[in-house]
Amino acid sequence: MKKIFLLPFFLFTLLNLKAQFPAASQTQRQIIVGTENTALVLSVGKNQKLYQVYLGEKLKDPADYLSLPNLHEAYIPSGTDNLFEPAIKILHNDGNPSLELLVADEKTTRDGNLITTSILLKDSKYPVEVRLNFVAFQKENIIKTWTEIRHQEKNPVLLTKYASSMIHLDAYKYWLTQFHGDWAKEMRMEESQLTSGIKTIDSKLGTRANMYQTPVFFLSKNIPSTETSGEVIAGTLGWTGSFQMSFELDNSNSLRMISGINPFASEYHLKPYETFTTPEFLFTFSNTGKGQASRNFHRWARNYGVMDGNGNRLSLLNNWEATFFDFDEPKLTELFGGAKNLGVDLFLLDDGWFGNKYPRSNDRAGLGDWQETQTKLPHGLGYLVEQAEAKGVKFGIWIEPEMVNPKSELYEKHPDWVLKLPNRDEHYYRNQLVLDLCNPEVQEFVYKLVDDMLTKNPKIAFIKWDCNRMMTNTYSPYLKDQQSHVQIEYVRSFYRVMDRLRTKYPKLPIMLCSGGGGRTDYGALKYFTEFWPSDNTDPYERVFIQWGYSYFFPSITSCNHITSWGKQSLKYKTDVAMMGKMGYDIRVNEMTPDELKFSQQAIQIHNRLRDLIWKGELYRLVSPYDEERAVLMYANEDKSKALIFSYALHPRTFNQFSPVKLLGLDANKKYKIEEINKMPGVNSWFAAEGKTFSGDYLLKIGLSLPNNSDLTSAVIEITEEK
Ligand code: DGJ
Repeated sequence: MKKIFLLPFFLFTLLNLKAQFPAASQTQRQIIVGTENTALVLSVGKNQKLYQVYLGEKLKDPADYLSLPNLHEAYIPSGTDNLFEPAIKILHNDGNPSLELLVADEKTTRDGNLITTSILLKDSKYPVEVRLNFVAFQKENIIKTWTEIRHQEKNPVLLTKYASSMIHLDAYKYWLTQFHGDWAKEMRMEESQLTSGIKTIDSKLGTRANMYQTPVFFLSKNIPSTETSGEVIAGTLGWTGSFQMSFELDNSNSLRMISGINPFASEYHLKPYETFTTPEFLFTFSNTGKGQASRNFHRWARNYGVMDGNGNRLSLLNNWEATFFDFDEPKLTELFGGAKNLGVDLFLLDDGWFGNKYPRSNDRAGLGDWQETQTKLPHGLGYLVEQAEAKGVKFGIWIEPEMVNPKSELYEKHPDWVLKLPNRDEHYYRNQLVLDLCNPEVQEFVYKLVDDMLTKNPKIAFIKWDCNRMMTNTYSPYLKDQQSHVQIEYVRSFYRVMDRLRTKYPKLPIMLCSGGGGRTDYGALKYFTEFWPSDNTDPYERVFIQWGYSYFFPSITSCNHITSWGKQSLKYKTDVAMMGKMGYDIRVNEMTPDELKFSQQAIQIHNRLRDLIWKGELYRLVSPYDEERAVLMYANEDKSKALIFSYALHPRTFNQFSPVKLLGLDANKKYKIEEINKMPGVNSWFAAEGKTFSGDYLLKIGLSLPNNSDLTSAVIEITEEK
């Protein structure tokens, strides 16, 4: 009986499937983009179209992928049979808006850890080519993908969409974790179930990717992934400008994720034979939750994504919050002494050292005039470098080379070097304007400013590169009738300048900063050794902000400074800053003897353990989003050493926290537990202090951590006992 009832339903489903996938074609051959654990399987149909048939855990036998149907065209063009969001949209010379992409060629090469696959797609009617590129980083389980678009039509074609990547997923439910914020509120994590239709996260800021939305996401399949469970894809775009990531859930509950430059205000007139190369989209897959996905990114970033990712970093004392614009030579040389006394490697002179006709004594003037202010620094930068050296610390300097105050000599001399609409009022943000970096003369100006400074002062050991505003009233006097290229050309020009600088100065550490954490992307981090996560240095807030960044960026990139923000103890501030690249922005001479002694010791402890923090495996044990505390742990690869950072946030009751099971240890090893980084004379409350436990115990039962009351913190060192 039942069978009779089911038959019409079955037939209906079949017909319906056929209607949804009219182009489903039999497989001719498959192309596997695989890392050690992950496979992205593409298939060439008998109709020559390219399909994505799988993304997930690698199967043992590649022949098994042949059973998968060709349901999703891999990189869907617009204007033919596509009914949802396309990856690419083009307008041909004859006004025809269609594109059909057929596989013309493919190539896979191996170079050690890297397998590169390149698939050439061609239109059958128009001389348009789209090349999909994939690099699979075997050990790191990261796939990097980008697209190249080219044509040989007579005149430029118009590109109105040009995704770096399109990925298809099939699951029961989809959970998107995104990171949003604002100035001083970076990386707020939010997770939601995707519903039908399109969810877009994007930015339209031009000079930076990040401010309100960050170009990173997690996409969990079926159920929300945790730190240790669930199938999850983590993705990010390497582009220091406007981005767009869209997640479209269609009528058959399939998801397409499209990532790339934001096409907003950016129609691109692609000339014949010119190649439009999209930024790189990076992603990883984990079937054991977000923790593994992060560790994949960390390892990849250190090995490939960040300048000198496995190198050293300099601890520093910055003067921004200690002095703001109010300093002179004697004040600075005194601060050098403070840096030495603390035991940091470098003193970083921040904003306010330049401008003469319009001295930079606040943020309303002087930006663009990169000459030392005579009244403040009569002996120039060279003298400061020498004085710092005499005190035993290196010297670093802040610049913001892409920007200008209207009250500056630069603006007076080159009013046409600024992005601004010709027929509207100038629009200021932090009293400044963006230079028209699309103009090669401006690129030369930026390059020369840095090059001249470093040529004159070769001992400058560090640069903080700031960028304090986004684009508004955008118009490039240089690009004239190609205004829709400004956002793209700006970022390309930024990279061009950085390429030149890095050719000449390959080793110099440079911090990436953008009015807080506006520039934290792997497009820029190729050129930079570290980034400034946020102007918000209140350690309570920082626990959340650093937690957020830790999903995608290794701790070696995160500049964490101890400042006077927040009412927490110096110990708490220090414990929070230690979880990355440690620095100070504080008046050392106002420290009590105990605070100074504690800080000197903290720097030594950090120096001793920094390799573990920067290059170890990160395990996020307790989330500040789940409990009124955060607990993180770093363990080295051979599981002989680990470090726990534990921060109570605002627990409502004393002793409310349960023991924390550790991760990343060897069950068969024995470990000694010690609380470190304590204030002088303070005894440990820690029941486990000095005791030895088996790895098995620590993994299965865990530790009751000593910091149970409001805004207390603890750092626990775990050492294998042989
Ligand atoms: C914004 C940065 O985020 C701060 O750290 C500081 O360098 C100021 N700019 C200086 O103007």
